[in-house]
Amino acid sequence: MKLLVTGGAGYIGSVVAAQLLEADHEVTVLDDLSTGHRDAVPAGAHFVEADIADSAKVVTADFDGVLHFAAKSLVGESQQRPELYWRTNVAGTLALLDALRHAGVRRIVFSSTAATYGEPDTVPIDETAPTAPTNTYGHSKLAVDRMLGGEALAHGLGAVSLRYFNVAGAHGGFGERHAVETHLIPIALQVAAGEREQLVVYGEDWPTPDGTCVRDYIHVADLAGAHLLAVQACEPGSHRIYNLGNGAGFSVREVIEAARRVTGHPIPVEVGPRRPGDPAVLVASSERIRAELGWEPAHPEIDVMVADAWEFIRSRM
Ligand code: UFG
Repeated sequence: MKLLVTGGAGYIGSVVAAQLLEADHEVTVLDDLSTGHRDAVPAGAHFVEADIADSAKVVTADFDGVLHFAAKSLVGESQQRPELYWRTNVAGTLALLDALRHAGVRRIVFSSTAATYGEPDTVPIDETAPTAPTNTYGHSKLAVDRMLGGEALAHGLGAVSLRYFNVAGAHGGFGERHAVETHLIPIALQVAAGEREQLVVYGEDWPTPDGTCVRDYIHVADLAGAHLLAVQACEPGSHRIYNLGNGAGFSVREVIEAARRVTGHPIPVEVGPRRPGDPAVLVASSERIRAELGWEPAHPEIDVMVADAWEFIRSRM
């Protein structure tokens, strides 16, 4: 297929673009490089440096579909600068959908998030769980999920929203590189690499077995594989939603232990207060995508995710 990957210079977009090329698809990356990196666009992809608001300049009738990653994605920033999230994530996606409709492009796979669910009533979380985001980032992604539902019904778009839980690891030389790092695994590895003194554990008084928050980590290569299945599965007039995780949770303490095992570094920690907005436990049920699309994670082990992220960091030192 001839596919457009918006945000293909970012962490997940670059891995998906690389896997699409490996599977012999033709790939064009659209990215404004506001958080992405030009050298993260895989060799073999066409690259257009543009804002998602200008999608109409790139989208033509000869595209078979779009994988849409271009977005702002930091929970904390979304609380401080909500307008940025509405403009980029919601208005930006509206411009993309307008361009797809005008060009007659009928397939879209959207990068949605577990943050659309907010604080869950029950875990594991399946797709029938109520959506009640606790931050603007989650609200903006949920608004796009709703836009896709309307576009499918009214105009025959074939859409799939993939709701990611915690993504980790690296694939094919592409990994996580944020200017301001807020995520647990990269921070733990920055300590191991000597770039930070220590890691602050955000609370040890949560209602969990060891008192630290539990998250469901998914390897970025497994996540990317789900996008390849999803783009094939898009059906005109239908919007499907799938959760993507491993169905097993690891606590902050367990992740730090994994980082110690993998790196051989003691990774000193200090226990700090809870981070506002963090739910205690987020674990996905991915039964729907397993049953309907035959998705199977190949790397559910936390040590493999941490080791692949570590190899990526060391390759850049
Ligand atoms: N944590 C620490 N110390 C740190 C960083 C994180 O203790 O320095 C803890 C957090 O409190 C949390 C866990 O590690 O309990 C994981 O935190 P991350 O920031 O790595 O990931 P989140 O679970 O907050 O965020 C992820 C995605 C978001 C998405 C969210 C859904 O990265 O994009 O899940 O709730 F919105």
